[in-house]
Amino acid sequence: MSDITVIGAGPMGSALARTLLRSGKKVTVWNRTSEKAEALVQEGAVFEPNAAFAVNASPIIIVCVATYEISRSILGSEDVAARMAGKLVVELSTGTPQDARNSEAWAHEQGADYLDGAIMATPPQIGMPDTPIFLSGSESAYRRSEPVLRVLAGNLIYLGESVGSASAWDLAALSTLFGSMFGFFHGARILESEGHRVDTFGSMIADISPVFGQMIKHEGELIQSETYDQPQSSVKTCMSTAELWVKQASEARINPDFPNFAKGLYEKAIQAGYENEELAAVIKVLRTDNE
Ligand SMILES: NC(=O)c1ccc[n+]([C@@H]2O[C@H](COP(=O)([O-])OP(=O)(O)OC[C@H]3O[C@@H](n4cnc5c(N)ncnc54)[C@H](OP(=O)(O)O)[C@@H]3O)[C@@H](O)[C@H]2O)c1
Repeated sequence: MSDITVIGAGPMGSALARTLLRSGKKVTVWNRTSEKAEALVQEGAVFEPNAAFAVNASPIIIVCVATYEISRSILGSEDVAARMAGKLVVELSTGTPQDARNSEAWAHEQGADYLDGAIMATPPQIGMPDTPIFLSGSESAYRRSEPVLRVLAGNLIYLGESVGSASAWDLAALSTLFGSMFGFFHGARILESEGHRVDTFGSMIADISPVFGQMIKHEGELIQSETYDQPQSSVKTCMSTAELWVKQASEARINPDFPNFAKGLYEKAIQAGYENEELAAVIKVLRTDNE
């Protein structure tokens, strides 16, 4: 018997398995492509080519493959599902809240306990004291898996029994991250067009990001309280920045997609009458778009 089975030996699954091995755990690994598990075997993992036997090998099954659909295609085959009763499945693939709800229901039908998680880190950050993992699902599943998960990430954020929470917070955080990334890429093009270094820009943004974090926190508080009428940064003021991005893109002949996207949202907010409200009022436009 092993302590933990890891299903998936891609970059993230391998990092999880390796970190568990280095902490002294006995680890069984399954991966569709066996060659990708060879390095883990050299570090002490047992590679089990049969997914049903891999599930049978441990009380805790960590799944980290590309999608929930793939996860289900592996765990849902008849011989694997027959061995799920009594196991604890920790699903760490990235998905939606509905994916998590479906997976939990399926796991419970098989008699397995289930915890859903979302890793907010890259593979080299696994095992670090600050690394966050969002978790949600039954509290007993969380308590049972906590000692193992603590090896993988020092900052476990348990969001409660509503199993979709981890995916919801993950997608929301990723939206914030990648929204910033697109802004950063456009910023890099502005600096390139003026002959400046992009690596220095990245370092500078890392240094000042706590200030940006405080701004985001403030906007979140205003959205929660629906208070937009005492603007520190009005929609109109922020619109003028977007207009400057568009103007500079035209002057420097650089791609205007990001400035045009931002300007388009500001224009909708102004058309809706939010010109002199706080920037956070843009969310009112986003609330109406899909109705
Ligand atoms: N890498 C990151 O920075 C990061 C960060 C946070 C979260 N995550 C999440 O972690 C999960 C795994 O990510 P990853 O970085 O390891 O790379 P990935 O490319 O998303 O997933 C690779 C894993 O999925 C398996 N897989 C893909 N298609 C399959 C199929 N049809 N049948 C069976 N297995 C299949 C691969 O098996 P084969 O080796 O056989 O192809 C491999 O084990 C993803 O959900 C990802 O979003 C990754």
